[in-house]
Amino acid sequence: MTYAETGLTAAIEQLTGTSLSALPREQLDGIDQYHAGGAEAVDRLIPHLALTPGSTVLDVGSGLGGPARQIARTTGCHVVGVDITPAYVDAARALTEAAGLAERTTFLCTDIGALDRTGFDAACTVHVQMNIPDKKAFYAEIARRLRPAARLAVFEVCGVPAATAPLPLPWSLDGTDSHLATPEELRDTIRAAGFDLLDWTDETPWARAWFDALGRRLAAGSAAPALPSLLTDGPTRMLNFAIALATGAVTVHRGTFAVPT
Ligand SMILES: C[S@@+](CC[C@H](N)C(=O)[O-])C[C@H]1O[C@@H](n2cnc3c(N)ncnc32)[C@H](O)[C@@H]1O
Repeated sequence: MTYAETGLTAAIEQLTGTSLSALPREQLDGIDQYHAGGAEAVDRLIPHLALTPGSTVLDVGSGLGGPARQIARTTGCHVVGVDITPAYVDAARALTEAAGLAERTTFLCTDIGALDRTGFDAACTVHVQMNIPDKKAFYAEIARRLRPAARLAVFEVCGVPAATAPLPLPWSLDGTDSHLATPEELRDTIRAAGFDLLDWTDETPWARAWFDALGRRLAAGSAAPALPSLLTDGPTRMLNFAIALATGAVTVHRGTFAVPT
């Protein structure tokens, strides 16, 4: 099982030498964002959600809650994060409490198919569908929970035919739970799940540059304690992700979709 870490809040306090409540947001940004590009990637996603004050946003596969809290903090919207990994949901709740954002972000440990709430104004998935074999059913469940004209923004990893990424990877330790689609397959599957396509952008060059900059900080010894230190085989998994991006074995694509009116 890939997402098997437990006791994450204690591990974060040990890693940073700081209590959760005293942890500066800038330091947390490197720890609670489980995807290429960190908080900067979420900044690139937010404008495409077309949020207005009072909007409610659904973040599916919310992890430790970094993207959800960032959306809530920067837009003033309410974000509901759902994830199937109990320890990650526990950590997301504790970090949210410590950040004073409990009134604007809610985290539920549930499969999207069991979420009994609808009418969201927007949704996002950030590095989640690589673990989902039936992507059409997954995005159809999201579509069912959105109002007409609601936006879906995705920031996702895709595969390249005949290319092999080295294991372990951030989303899969042994490859058995990795289900990569090509960018075209993912784009067309989300459309087939009930969305209109508004934008589909290859963010691979940007993600490569982000990993390059991180590598320079690590080499210079100026990188802050970060998420890989909390994960099983974390540094190797992140390095393999960077290698897979650099060698063209995987891509990172950002897409914007809308529920038909
Ligand atoms: C790579 S992490 C990304 C977390 C978060 N989106 C972020 O970017 O920080 C993938 C997350 O997807 C969650 N996940 C995997 N399969 C899922 C499913 N079927 N439904 C909901 N969450 C899922 C995992 O538990 C994990 O938290």
